[in-house]
Amino acid sequence: MESRSYFQSLLLFILSLLNFLSQNRAYQNGAVGVFEVNYKFAGSNRSLSALKAHDDVRHLAILSGVDLPLGGTGRPEAVGLYYAKIGIGTPSKDYYVQVDTGSDILWVNCIQCHQCPRRGYHGIELTLYNPKDSLTGKLVSCDQKFCKEIGGSPSGCRANTSCLYTEMYGDGGYSMGYFVEDVVQYDQVSGDLQTKSSNGSVIFGCGARQSGDLGMDDALDGILGFGKSNSSMLSQLASSGRIKKMFAHCLDGVNGGGIFAIGHVVQPLVNTTPLVPNEPHYNVNMTAIQVGHDLLNLTTDVYGTGDKKGAIIDSGTTLAYLPEVIYEPLVKKILSWQLDLKLRILHDEYTCFDYSGSVDDAFPPVTLHFENSLFLKVYPREYLFPFEDLVCIGWQKSGMQSQDKNNITLLGDLVLSNKLVLYDLENQTIGWTEYNCSSSIKLKDELTGSVHLVGAHSLSHGCRLNVGALFFLLMAVLLGLLQPPILYI
Ligand SMILES: *[C@@H]1O[C@H](CO)[C@@H](O)[C@H](O)[C@H]1NC(C)=O
Ligand SMILES: *[C@@H]1O[C@H](CO)[C@@H](O)[C@H](O)[C@H]1NC(C)=O
Ligand SMILES: *[C@@H]1O[C@H](CO)[C@@H](O)[C@H](O)[C@H]1NC(C)=O
Ligand SMILES: *[C@@H]1O[C@H](CO)[C@@H](O)[C@H](O)[C@H]1NC(C)=O
Ligand SMILES: *[C@@H]1O[C@H](CO)[C@@H](O)[C@H](O)[C@H]1NC(C)=O
Ligand SMILES: *[C@@H]1O[C@H](CO)[C@@H](O)[C@H](O)[C@H]1NC(C)=O
Ligand SMILES: *[C@@H]1O[C@H](CO)[C@@H](O)[C@H](O)[C@H]1NC(C)=O
Ligand SMILES: *[C@@H]1O[C@H](CO)[C@@H](O)[C@H](O)[C@H]1NC(C)=O
Ligand SMILES: *[C@@H]1O[C@H](CO)[C@@H](O)[C@H](O)[C@H]1NC(C)=O
Repeated sequence: MESRSYFQSLLLFILSLLNFLSQNRAYQNGAVGVFEVNYKFAGSNRSLSALKAHDDVRHLAILSGVDLPLGGTGRPEAVGLYYAKIGIGTPSKDYYVQVDTGSDILWVNCIQCHQCPRRGYHGIELTLYNPKDSLTGKLVSCDQKFCKEIGGSPSGCRANTSCLYTEMYGDGGYSMGYFVEDVVQYDQVSGDLQTKSSNGSVIFGCGARQSGDLGMDDALDGILGFGKSNSSMLSQLASSGRIKKMFAHCLDGVNGGGIFAIGHVVQPLVNTTPLVPNEPHYNVNMTAIQVGHDLLNLTTDVYGTGDKKGAIIDSGTTLAYLPEVIYEPLVKKILSWQLDLKLRILHDEYTCFDYSGSVDDAFPPVTLHFENSLFLKVYPREYLFPFEDLVCIGWQKSGMQSQDKNNITLLGDLVLSNKLVLYDLENQTIGWTEYNCSSSIKLKDELTGSVHLVGAHSLSHGCRLNVGALFFLLMAVLLGLLQPPILYI
């Protein structure tokens, strides 16, 4: 996500301190929670047939896949933001949540939230979740296993005390609240481009307080974390045997929306690179950077490894952040293709210039190389974006936002869009290939072996306009109750 102001950093610092003091530190280092796994075959005499019978039952429960309808803007708007629609509660209500592979939990704005956003991104109608409105909604208390394992259980926990969470985001944003459990509705793949509604019980955050732009108008209902931890919706559904821990996204940078599917993708085939183990995020080892045909002359240690230096793949980040030692030579090399550019720095962070021709003809593609010969090619039209009559460079220097993000490599939608990106937590790999995100992919049904097409979506607020409301407006105008300009809202 985008950079924050000094004030927000200060606020964040104070909140982090409070958070630290309250010992509620579950998320700060990306710590993970553990679910209880009732291993019913523990003990000395497990028979193979019993195991197999269990597997058969489990396979029956495994879905062929889940199709998450996706919305969000591509170009020419510089700010890419991708969100999915899910249903929560009984009766089910729709929620629009940003899909974020850089964080773990699902949270939505809750009824008593402080400064709740009302008007959503691009006019989306937002809904505040109220556990009391849902027949299936219940609070998660601090003595429940989930809470203890996630570190949200204070020392003086009593049975009726709620389980608190604080989710901190890499850009300094945060959401605070308490955990609830309710039924989440999703679209199970049932045929080619066909789905049927399915559900599962999920523990998620009821957001009481959000930082700056997460709580302001133009926000969404919440964030759906697709991180690695056991607290994610993905892990919860997987632990109940409903899905495999594999998912893919194809964020359409041209038309907006795209594909977000949970399940085993068999087409397109992608090359993969191993995930760096024991990292809270999806970290991969980057090995080289190529500009046009030339490799940047960098020593291998600048790519480094680990949370500080390994490249983090994060769909919740819009741009791409590189350590200064990589950023400087990269931008210098890109700009060397056009010698007469007059550079301007906008908002202290964007390097921009005047250019009216086709950027793809004038600038080189940038290719990032990873372990296992996987590479990711980023075209000029993807890393350059129009801004106030100028063209700006999307690559950013890390550490400009906060000191502790110094030297981090964070690859967001700038490089991930227009690619099918596959996360395989069963095999601990990640991979991608260039792909048309307005087309479809194929998912394999784990039970029957049959393969189904899953297509692209492009949710827009337009489809939420209620016909009844439109009729009322028209009638009201005809009857002279309202002035015509109301039609332009
Ligand atoms: C997450 O849960 C799985 C079982 O579902 C368990 O094997 C694994 O150790 C857990 N991971 C962590 C980090 O607790
Ligand atoms: C193991 O098998 C024996 C004989 O079939 C049975 O008596 C015993 O209760 C079993 N133990 C467990 C832990 O299931
Ligand atoms: C928890 O709250 C419920 C209803 O509010 C009450 O009936 C129950 O006795 C309480 N339990 C404890 C342990 O306080
Ligand atoms: C969840 O799915 C089951 C099985 O399809 C269905 O019987 C149940 O009514 C659903 N629950 C909700 C809350 O939609
Ligand atoms: C990544 O790089 C580190 C350090 O060079 C190495 O130990 C590790 O095996 C590499 N690969 C993975 C998948 O972690
Ligand atoms: C690459 O950089 C090293 C020092 O970092 C330098 O010695 C070497 O000449 C450079 N190679 C090229 C081809 O520029
Ligand atoms: C960032 O990396 C550079 C070069 O590797 C190093 O000199 C500098 O100390 C690092 N900065 C931080 C804050 O770690
Ligand atoms: C995961 O790895 C196993 C063993 O290497 C392989 O047989 C399987 O095809 C892999 N799964 C996927 C989805 O690539
Ligand atoms: C992408 O796929 C869509 C739907 O199949 C098709 O209409 C469009 O022409 C394709 N775009 C490109 C660039 O191939």
